[in-house]
Amino acid sequence: MPLNQPSASATVIVGTQFGDEGKGKLVDYLSSKYDIVVRYQGGANAGHTICFDNKTLVLHLIPSGIFHEGCICVIGNGVVIDPNALLEEIRQVEAMGYDVRDRLFISHNAHLIMPYHKLLDSLHESAQNDKKIGTTGRGIGPSYMDKFARKGIRVVDLLNPEVLEEKLRDNLEAKNKLIKNIYDTEEIDVEAIVREYSEFDEIINPYVKNTQLFLNKKLREGKTVLLEGAQGCLLDVDHGTYPYVTSSNPTSGGASTGSGIAPNYIRNVIGVCKAYMTRVGNGAFPSELFDETGDKLGRIGHEFGATTGRKRRCGWLDLVALRYSLIINGVTEIALTKLDVLDAFEEVKVCTSYMLDGKEIVDFPTDDQTLSRVEPVYRTLKGWNTSNAEARTFEDMHPDSRAFVHFIEEETGVPVSCISVGPGREETVFR
Ligand code: IMP
Repeated sequence: MPLNQPSASATVIVGTQFGDEGKGKLVDYLSSKYDIVVRYQGGANAGHTICFDNKTLVLHLIPSGIFHEGCICVIGNGVVIDPNALLEEIRQVEAMGYDVRDRLFISHNAHLIMPYHKLLDSLHESAQNDKKIGTTGRGIGPSYMDKFARKGIRVVDLLNPEVLEEKLRDNLEAKNKLIKNIYDTEEIDVEAIVREYSEFDEIINPYVKNTQLFLNKKLREGKTVLLEGAQGCLLDVDHGTYPYVTSSNPTSGGASTGSGIAPNYIRNVIGVCKAYMTRVGNGAFPSELFDETGDKLGRIGHEFGATTGRKRRCGWLDLVALRYSLIINGVTEIALTKLDVLDAFEEVKVCTSYMLDGKEIVDFPTDDQTLSRVEPVYRTLKGWNTSNAEARTFEDMHPDSRAFVHFIEEETGVPVSCISVGPGREETVFR
């Protein structure tokens, strides 16, 4: 199915690497072609950067479809929501002149990120010495911990002040014991939190919906749905480089559980892949570069975290990791992003296999101990030393950059259907 001609089904966009693949630009482009855009996991740890009309905006929770009038945006049940962060984002979008009412819906089943989650995230990280994950500090892990421990507070609870207060007091009592006795830190003021969160009911009410039923109903009516993953496959709690992962499922399987959309509605999975690799936070990264080439990729690619501003680690494209990602996600087509960052290189390298204990391996090891011991094996390709920013068809692109794209296709067996040749909306080649 051509990427830019959706039919009545759901399409998932997933990151195939360690996040920050440039999904925001693609979602922004495709949003104009879909009826509904859904976020299905993660929270304000993600940051999708969108550039248009000479403006750059980073969205953490609201799907970027919000900038296309007529597109409905849904924050699914798999997302963890900090209500303060969400309301601030709504304010920012409205200040830019976009209408949010009746276009943004939040799942009543989504879990909340509370101030104690953020505090515990940073206290836990600080206590880790050399085993820090390098989290974004947004309370993501602690919020999902409460969800799976069946202690979480959900969006629907905000609408029932009595239930909310009881749950809050129970949670705060337990968390304060932890904060005081284990981390030797000042306890959280229970009354202030109860007061603050009791005031959300009327503000949040217009956005709350049973989005699981809503989405399935819309699909049955023939509407098109785009599911927008945050982070990337290699940060998936089940399929990524555990324990250096996030606490949710960015992979395409998570799109179904995180939205309630029945899996058989999902026909197309677009795997977003950056033309090189980056990683923020700790954990193995076989093709990481520690030299001027790595710095150059970071400089040209503006590789600083959209949420935390942290410098991203940079390296060459890793096809061992990519092939694994394509399988786990059932990727039907690749969207290759930030190819323009490679425009100024004499030669570009691509990792095609690993050496482990003297043997060549082609399967991606997801355990950090093994992954941190592999040595990348590279294929060197000719650089193109030319900008493709004006290219609008594949044929317009420099032959050596086309050879790079063909090489990825041959090595993975998956077609590259979209290539980003610059940061702007229009600097994109569709095939
Ligand atoms: P957490 O999601 O804040 O718990 O962080 C866990 C790991 O995932 C850390 O290594 C983070 O740097 C990484 N991470 C979380 N969100 C993103 C993202 O949007 N892009 C890239 N890395 C991320």
